[in-house]
Formats: sequence, structure tokens, C-alpha cells
Amino acid sequence: MDRFMKRIFALLAVIVLIFTIAVFYDKINTTTREIHVIPPVYCMQLRHKFANIASATNPAHHRFDFKNFTEDLSALMRCPPMSNITQKELNRARLRACCNATGILYYNKQNTAANQNITYETSSKQSYHINKDFYNMLPEDFPWSGRTLSNCAVVGSGGILKNSSCGREIDTADFVIRFNMAPVNDSDVGLKTDLVTMNPSQLLGYKNLKSNPGPLVERVSVYGNSILIISAFNYAANTRLSVNAFKVLHPIRPQQHMVFFSSSYMKNLSGFWKRQGLKGVHLSSGFRLINVALEVCDHVHVYGFWPFDTNLEQQKLTHHYFDNVGPKRGVHAMPKEFLNLLKLHSQGALTLHLQPCL
Ligand SMILES: *[C@@H]1O[C@H](CO)[C@@H](O)[C@H](O)[C@H]1NC(C)=O
Ligand SMILES: *[C@@H]1O[C@H](CO)[C@@H](O)[C@H](O)[C@H]1NC(C)=O
Ligand SMILES: *[C@@H]1O[C@H](CO)[C@@H](O)[C@H](O)[C@H]1NC(C)=O
Ligand SMILES: *[C@@H]1O[C@H](CO)[C@@H](O)[C@H](O)[C@H]1NC(C)=O
Ligand SMILES: *[C@@H]1O[C@H](CO)[C@@H](O)[C@H](O)[C@H]1NC(C)=O
Ligand SMILES: *[C@@H]1O[C@H](CO)[C@@H](O)[C@H](O)[C@H]1NC(C)=O
Ligand SMILES: *[C@@H]1O[C@H](CO)[C@@H](O)[C@H](O)[C@H]1NC(C)=O
Repeated sequence: MDRFMKRIFALLAVIVLIFTIAVFYDKINTTTREIHVIPPVYCMQLRHKFANIASATNPAHHRFDFKNFTEDLSALMRCPPMSNITQKELNRARLRACCNATGILYYNKQNTAANQNITYETSSKQSYHINKDFYNMLPEDFPWSGRTLSNCAVVGSGGILKNSSCGREIDTADFVIRFNMAPVNDSDVGLKTDLVTMNPSQLLGYKNLKSNPGPLVERVSVYGNSILIISAFNYAANTRLSVNAFKVLHPIRPQQHMVFFSSSYMKNLSGFWKRQGLKGVHLSSGFRLINVALEVCDHVHVYGFWPFDTNLEQQKLTHHYFDNVGPKRGVHAMPKEFLNLLKLHSQGALTLHLQPCL
């Protein structure tokens, strides 16, 4: 009995000690953090400023004060992240009503019928016939069918992710979205992938897929069983490339679904943003999938979206975290899209990450 009581006392002493250390550690941690903290009133002003940027503002314009922009943004990034559930639900409802990624982001057995004709995004006269074999290879439903996903990370390819150490943080998300089969890396961008886009042009590099599927199979295996999503029904040339790859990959990797963006989702989302002032713009796949995440996820964390060539500390950046090849000029309007992401961040609808992770 005596020995039993001694053990209990020893255990209690250890618990009290751990508790004291935890409280102390937390105190030290908050005091060191407070040194860098921006006053709450200033944070409110910055959020107000960035939440009210006009959607059509173009940071590439010569009258745009980029220095003031990055200085204020740098301060905003040191403010505690703010989440506004009302704003999130409002966005979710608007996006569902216009575009419905929840129910029609890509073709599956729930939203498509065998023998249905798919009309093209760019032409209502052209269509593609879904035969029985094609239908049977479609996935049953969506990962978000009947629920919302909790924490999502959308990982762009911006050079800002290089040396960011954000990999571990990204990998803690419940659902990770990546682009154009970008390389994964445990230190900076993480390894977890649930959905990754393929660009039809990337398939051009794989000749004679039927007789030599190895290289493409190896490339997609890096993403485990994540969904591979491709835009196949905008132009006929893309359909040929995508459907060929689909027919080759499905029998070899039946657990890893290759899927096709629905053309009505793509068309409706462009229309939605046109009405918000993003006119004459071909939306990037990054921006589109952030919109998807806003609809199907409770919390959206955005990494690697920063379309400028210097970071917030005015240091030079590479175009991508994995190479320094620039985009084709005039294809996308990333800076304009970015301001809309910043607006959503300032409203508490998503969280932009523009600085290295701790
Ligand atoms: C940026 O400009 C605004 C409005 O002109 C001003 O209030 C703010 O102090 C400026 N920020 C910095 C960091 O200079
Ligand atoms: C949250 O968003 C709603 C809708 O835009 C807005 O009315 C409300 O003021 C916001 N709340 C906070 C604390 O900013
Ligand atoms: C979204 O699409 C699904 C599947 O087609 C459908 O059941 C649902 O009613 C649609 N929701 C809206 C708001 O259109
Ligand atoms: C699909 O289009 C073909 C002609 O291209 C037509 O014969 C067929 O009836 C259409 N099917 C449906 C379900 O509309
Ligand atoms: C990343 O870190 C390496 C090694 O520490 C350094 O040489 C390189 O300049 C850094 N790159 C960026 C973009 O900060
Ligand atoms: C991951 O990123 C770090 C830093 O950018 C780099 O040193 C390393 O070589 C990368 N690893 C892979 C597998 O790409
Ligand atoms: C999207 O566009 C199609 C026509 O392309 C339309 O029939 C549909 O109702 C629109 N809205 C949604 C929520 O899908």
C-alpha cells in the first residue's frame, strides 16, 4: 500500500511539473511573438484596405504603387489570420448557385449518363459521345460527396515556395491540391497529394503511349492514388491526348482516377468572375481550383500563389519553385487574380501564405 501511494505521489509530481513547464513555455513564446505583432487597429485598417480593392485593379499597371502594396501586405501577413464563417458560407452559396463544383466539377457516374453527349466549353456545336466503356471507367462520385472537406491546401508553383519549409504544414491538410504534375518535396511543398492537374501539353512528351506506357505511369505514380484532373473538353486536340492517356492509364492504375473537368463548370465559373470584373481573362487552373476549394472545404490554405518577381522582402524569386521558366506572355492575368485572392484573405474567407513557415 505504501509503495502504491508513493507511486501515485511521484506521478502527480511529474504531472504538476509538466503543467508548470507548459504554462511557462507558452508565456515565453507569446512574449517573444508579441514583439513582432502589429497593433489590432492597424490590422483592421489593412484588412479593410485590401478587402475593398476593386476586382479589376491591375498591379501590372504603371500607376500601381507596388512598394506601398508590398509594405502594407508584409504588415498584413504579420497580423493573426482571421476567419469569417458568415463570409465563407456566403461565398460557398454563391459558388454553388453559379457553378456547382460540389456536384459537377468533373464527370462521374452520378452526374453523367452512358450515351450522353458532352458539349465543348468553347463551342456548343461540337460534342463528345460518352460510350458504355468510357462511362464504366468514370469514378463513382467525389471525395466530398455528402460532406465538406475540413482543411484544404491549394499549392501553386510560385518561386515563393522555394526554401519556405512549408512542406510539413502543407502535409497536415486533409486534402491537398497541386498543379501541372509539379514536383513534390518534403521540405518546401510537402508530399501529400489528393488532386493534381495535368496539362494536355504535358502529354505531348509521351509518344506511343499504348506500347510504351511506362514513363507516364511512373510520372503519375509519384502522386499515389490522387485524382488526376485534366481539361479535355475545351478543344478537340486536347480531347484526343487526354482520352488516349485515360484509356492507357485506367487498366494499369485503376485505383488512381484520371478525370475530366466538366465543360459547364468551366464555362459558368468564367462567367461568374467576368461579372465580378475579371473581364477578358482566361482564368488560370490555380484560380479555378481555389474556387473549387472555397465551395467544398471548410478552411482553405493557399500556398505558392505570388505572381511577382520579388518577395515581400524585395528578394529576387524564380518563376516556379522547381525551375525558372517564365509563362507565355498574356495567357493568364495572374496579378489580377492575385488581388482577388488577397481580397478573400482580408475578408477571412481563405488564408494566403506568403512567408516561410516556422
Ligand atoms: C500606403 O499608402 C496608404 C494610402 O496612401 C497610406 O495610408 C499607408 O501608410 C502607406 N503605407 C506605407 C507602408 O507607406
Ligand atoms: C463577416 O462577414 C460578413 C459578411 O460579409 C460581414 O457582414 C461581417 O461584418 C463580417 N464579420 C467580421 C467580424 O468582419
Ligand atoms: C449540383 O449538381 C448536382 C449533381 O448534378 C445536383 O444534384 C445538384 O442539384 C446541383 N446543385 C445546384 C445548386 O445546382
Ligand atoms: C449524341 O449525338 C449523336 C450524334 O452525334 C446523336 O446521334 C445522339 O442521338 C446523341 N445522343 C444524345 C443522348 O443526345
Ligand atoms: C535557398 O537556399 C539555398 C541554400 O541555403 C540558397 O543558395 C538559395 O539562394 C535560396 N534560394 C532562395 C530563392 O531563397
Ligand atoms: C527540396 O527542396 C530543397 C530546398 O529547396 C532542395 O534543397 C532539395 O534538393 C529538394 N528536394 C527534392 C527532392 O527536390
Ligand atoms: C451552368 O451552365 C449550364 C449551361 O452550360 C446550365 O445549364 C447550368 O444550369 C449552370 N449552372 C449550374 C449551377 O450548373
